[in-house]
Amino acid sequence: MEHRGLGWPRLPRLLELLAALAVQAVRASAIAAASPDLSLWPMPLSVQTTPRVLHLSPDNFFFGHSSTSKAGPSCSLLQEAFRRYYDYIFGFYKWHHGSADLRVGVELQQLQVSVVLEPECDTFPKISSDESYTLLVKGPVASLTANRVWGVLRGLETFSQLIYQDFYGTFTVNESNIVDSPRFPHRGILIDTSRHFLSIKSIFKTLDAMAFNKFNVLHWHIVDDPSFPYQSITFPGLSEKGSYSSSHVYTPNDVRMVIEYARLRGIRIVPEFDSPGHTQSWGEGQKDLLTPCYNGKDPSGAFGPINPIWNTTYSFLSKFFKEISTVFPDEFIHLGGDEVDFDCWASNPEIQDFMRNKGFGRNFKKLESFYMQVVLDMISAINKSSIVWQEVFDDASKLMPGTVIQVWKVEDYTREQSKVTEAGFPVILSAPWYLDWISYGQDWKKYYAVDPLSFEGSQEQKKLVIGGEACLWGEYVDATNLTPRLWPRASAVGERLWSHKDVRGLEDAYRRLTIHRCRMLRRGIAAEPVFTGYCDHEDRM
Ligand SMILES: *[C@@H]1O[C@H](CO)[C@@H](O)[C@H](O)[C@H]1NC(C)=O
Ligand SMILES: *[C@@H]1O[C@H](CO)[C@@H](O)[C@H](O)[C@H]1NC(C)=O
Ligand SMILES: *[C@@H]1O[C@H](CO)[C@@H](O)[C@H](O)[C@H]1NC(C)=O
Repeated sequence: MEHRGLGWPRLPRLLELLAALAVQAVRASAIAAASPDLSLWPMPLSVQTTPRVLHLSPDNFFFGHSSTSKAGPSCSLLQEAFRRYYDYIFGFYKWHHGSADLRVGVELQQLQVSVVLEPECDTFPKISSDESYTLLVKGPVASLTANRVWGVLRGLETFSQLIYQDFYGTFTVNESNIVDSPRFPHRGILIDTSRHFLSIKSIFKTLDAMAFNKFNVLHWHIVDDPSFPYQSITFPGLSEKGSYSSSHVYTPNDVRMVIEYARLRGIRIVPEFDSPGHTQSWGEGQKDLLTPCYNGKDPSGAFGPINPIWNTTYSFLSKFFKEISTVFPDEFIHLGGDEVDFDCWASNPEIQDFMRNKGFGRNFKKLESFYMQVVLDMISAINKSSIVWQEVFDDASKLMPGTVIQVWKVEDYTREQSKVTEAGFPVILSAPWYLDWISYGQDWKKYYAVDPLSFEGSQEQKKLVIGGEACLWGEYVDATNLTPRLWPRASAVGERLWSHKDVRGLEDAYRRLTIHRCRMLRRGIAAEPVFTGYCDHEDRM
């Protein structure tokens, strides 16, 4: 079995047998993919299709629960998913064409869903959540089998992508057999709501598009220097003073809605509260938190990173992160730790004293580590796990095992991956996937060509790469251009993180991506064009 388990739960036993039979199908997928009709994105692990076609009628087709399924109509996550996917498949066409007459041949009347284990309907997705599924499309009843609801969600997406309209407008699907599971468990998109506020509606759109591309983590870089839109219950002054305005704020209810909208799509929300740098906006609403910078002997009036030498800093952070740990259900909190500017710390006489007493000399990396260590301990004391940007690893003498390191600096990133994994830390890769850097032409090809495991290291080291993220920083992005700048460029990263490593053919990817982009357009996502051409349903935009 070539599939990479990466130390995370492997393809479950039930599916393993099928998957073993399908080893050749991994290769066959390349052949099937060459067929003009197959437009799956991201490409599943194994796909077998036949020339036998089934027809579907919007009036007669439905999603149902198999009698042996551990989930049933009381699983609202699935009920809502059935509604959504019915609309993605038929909704738009029904509006325009009425229900097309069924052509001769076998009808597909139902997709019967079966969840094999405890379904996890009412829980939050986790890094270890099982997203595998098998999809058997044959008439008159097709079946979708998964261990958990998360696999059902991924399988419904695949099923919807298999259906097309034939020459006469009839909904059609080829008989097929798909066995699928992701290559990496952490497949993320980073959005930045500090540099520009993003409306809840635009975040929902992003989550929709993420589900179409089988992404499962929204890394919410929620605050930064320019603004603090997160409304804290414990410290309401932070957003009162630190947001752009009282309407550029995420209330506790907004945050809950985002978390639930994401959950229903099998997407985790990982919040980032970046410190000690990138915190200018925190200082507006929280007195005596930032370091006063000095000009010679006198305070200059400017402030630098969070002040790491006052006890009040840590009592504030401890209360703050306690709140964050209850508001956000995910196991992980991203603590940032990037780009700390040492000049202000160096100018401050109190900090100079502290450095002398601690024996840090002039090495401000030691002060940075000292700060991060306290905050990391705080997070583990409230039973959460931490993700940090790579500087925290680069500048630290020691770091708690299990701290996840996000590699973002593009120069020498494969060497950084080697170093981090050699030290035994898990890695999230985003260095080659900074989508805020724009250029002329089809840059998706560049993202697509990356392999997250192409660094020097042992098999053990490679298993520490838990996935990657496409990052869209917000200096030049707000709700007007968020969607077209993300999609379909991020789709390239989506396939790289989901599909088998050998799915790399650019020509076939181009063909499928072009169709996938039109599919996103049809579903209300303003994805930009891949290249010259047209879609059948541009009037939707
Ligand atoms: C689907 O069936 C049609 C009609 O038999 C055939 O031409 C096409 O190649 C099939 N597509 C795939 C992906 O197998
Ligand atoms: C800050 O906390 C440390 C460790 O708990 C303690 O030794 C020190 O006296 C405290 N300083 C102030 C000013 O409260
Ligand atoms: C963290 O987990 C431990 C062990 O499960 C438990 O005893 C403790 O109360 C938890 N602490 C918090 C803050 O949830």
